[in-house]
Amino acid sequence: MQFYERVKAELEERKAVGTYRELPLVSFNQDNILLDSMPYVDLSSNDYLCIARDPKFFKTFINTVTDTSTTDSDFVERLLLSSIGAGSTGSRLLTGNQIPYAYCEDLLASLYNGSIACAVDVADVTAGRPRKVQHLSVQEAQRQMALSGGAVGGAGGLGGAGGAGGTVAAVDETEPQRERSCLYLNSGFEANLGVLSTLFGKGDLLLVDKLCHASIIDGMLHGKAKALRYAHNDMEHLARLLEQHAADYDNVVIVTEAVFSMDGDFANLKDIVALKHQYANVLVYVDEAHSFGLYGEDGLGLCKELEVLSDVDFLMGTFSKAIGSQGAFLLCYPEVKEYLVNFMRPFIYTTALPPVNITFTMYVIGLLKTTAMQYKREYLRKISAYLHSYLQELDIAPSDSQIQPLITGDSDRAQLASKIFRRSGLLAMPIRYPTVPQQQCRLRLALNCNLRIDDLDLIVNLVRRYRRLFV
Ligand SMILES: Cc1ncc(COP(=O)(O)O)c(C=O)c1O
Repeated sequence: MQFYERVKAELEERKAVGTYRELPLVSFNQDNILLDSMPYVDLSSNDYLCIARDPKFFKTFINTVTDTSTTDSDFVERLLLSSIGAGSTGSRLLTGNQIPYAYCEDLLASLYNGSIACAVDVADVTAGRPRKVQHLSVQEAQRQMALSGGAVGGAGGLGGAGGAGGTVAAVDETEPQRERSCLYLNSGFEANLGVLSTLFGKGDLLLVDKLCHASIIDGMLHGKAKALRYAHNDMEHLARLLEQHAADYDNVVIVTEAVFSMDGDFANLKDIVALKHQYANVLVYVDEAHSFGLYGEDGLGLCKELEVLSDVDFLMGTFSKAIGSQGAFLLCYPEVKEYLVNFMRPFIYTTALPPVNITFTMYVIGLLKTTAMQYKREYLRKISAYLHSYLQELDIAPSDSQIQPLITGDSDRAQLASKIFRRSGLLAMPIRYPTVPQQQCRLRLALNCNLRIDDLDLIVNLVRRYRRLFV
């Protein structure tokens, strides 16, 4: 068929089966999301902690990075200069790898490594000499602080991992672990696509949860590794696949999301790492897109909360959801980072994100420990539990998290349910095939910490009234 005819025919086909997509034009004001100029309570964005669109929060960020009156003013000035501009000018391998990248990666790695943020020689940075960043164990940092009688540099005057510069985290009594590195990537999609297809190849096997995100599936399809899918969260199926195939491959990688993006349930991470330990050649890759910033001590994610971090080989998190910024990171061992910098084409052949984004990401990460953020996380958990308890009464399966699906089955019902919600001032977008499996169309409620109890009661009342629409 001629090209343009084929394009039109395929679009018509989508319309006929109810899976046609359009780009909704939205904007935000202080309290609401606006669609077609009408304000709604936002139940669809992934801005779980209400950071991305909070003008006060953004203003404080600007004030903080432009405040050169602190003792670290050289550093702040330098960071400010590095944060200017809407573009980064090049790939990270050329001119795009500006200072905020290095600091943000160090900050995140040190948080996961249980070190204090980092010990930065500010003088070296401002003098334009190669920067010295030293990760210190908590114990070593305490020893140095005691000796120097002062603070070892925190996250460079931006709040830092321990709040005000130099605060030392609680001492971790566990066995010393090999330290991890962190690689900042342009998006979660790029991360899953690029990392999975670059790291694994012939002789490797990927075992991927059936409900994993499109970016994981594309990473699986683009690489040369053999891939098999296991039934969603089905540990018996996973165990069987391992038993049947592990011996035939050099490396087997179990790939899962921590909190599943469309169903809001948790992966069985403890069981997954227990299975890993039964084999010498099994690795674990976890996508924490919907849990980073929300779960675990200081928001470091579900792996941290479930105490499996040391058993997870690759942890991917996004800054585009709870952090309210852009981009993603991979936490991995240093040689893996080095390998990706050398071989990962979607990382190498693209322009780095604008540095201001990275500075913003670093600013938010520096705040994750604060009481204000802890309060937001706690509030989100409480309202999620509130909604779950009422849905359970209505015989609707509650999820484990801030993501709650209301499954309608077919696409028409999902669109109708969405319209009903909109009539009551709630924006819950319909999610349809092929984003979710056939007959699993739904409203995906993404709760955020701006919601009030009244909003949740309204949701429950609508579900009660239109119960027949939901399975
Ligand atoms: C589980 C999961 N992984 C990865 C991504 C991609 O992240 P990003 O939006 O930063 O590209 C998403 C985005 O929706 C997601 O839900």
